[in-house]
Amino acid sequence: MNNFDGIAWCYDFVKRLVFGDVLDQASAHFLSKIPPGSKVLIIGGGTGRILNDISGELQITYLEKSANMLRRAQKRQSTSVDFEHIDFLDFQAPQKFDCIICPFFLDLFTQEMLGNVMLKLKESMVPGGQLLVADFSHRSSVLLKVMYLGFRALSNIPAKSIPPIQEMITFSGFHLIDSTMFLNGQVFSSHFRHVSN
Ligand SMILES: C[S@@+](CC[C@H](N)C(=O)[O-])C[C@H]1O[C@@H](n2cnc3c(N)ncnc32)[C@H](O)[C@@H]1O
Repeated sequence: MNNFDGIAWCYDFVKRLVFGDVLDQASAHFLSKIPPGSKVLIIGGGTGRILNDISGELQITYLEKSANMLRRAQKRQSTSVDFEHIDFLDFQAPQKFDCIICPFFLDLFTQEMLGNVMLKLKESMVPGGQLLVADFSHRSSVLLKVMYLGFRALSNIPAKSIPPIQEMITFSGFHLIDSTMFLNGQVFSSHFRHVSN
């Protein structure tokens, strides 16, 4: 499975060198939609840049599989955050979350694996909960695909191509509320709501 420990030290530098601050802008785009007082789960937040952009009275749980990424996130912590060093697929949520944030996390999985990840996301949230996702579009340019494959090689990501993330999310029973594109449609930021049965 993927391992970001080896590249945690240079991850932000390389990300900014290649994409500027576009990926961080995409991750932050819908954060203002989270109602105050919400229980929020951030999955795969990396070095924690997103913690600088999130504000308000929120109860945040921050899951990271990479110890090195997590250590960096803990250093820049501004508000009170419950940091957990764990693989999301092994996480037993002690509570259901009002909002789950996946910033450049879902592209790490193959389309087959994403089915299980989506089930787990739904189990972890309250009915009608919100899902904020920023990620690469599977219709991205050749250049972006090459860069994705570079990161994939360095961090041992199993996915060989960018999966159709937005389609998988709506197929899994989420309703798209709003979406914005960056980099000519190669990166998206989307706000979904869980459709309760
Ligand atoms: C592509 S990086 C994105 C980091 C950050 N969100 C950003 O946009 O800069 C993916 C992050 O997800 C973490 N990760 C990968 N698989 C995970 C899993 N199963 N559970 C929790 N975190 C995971 C990695 O360690 C890495 O920090």
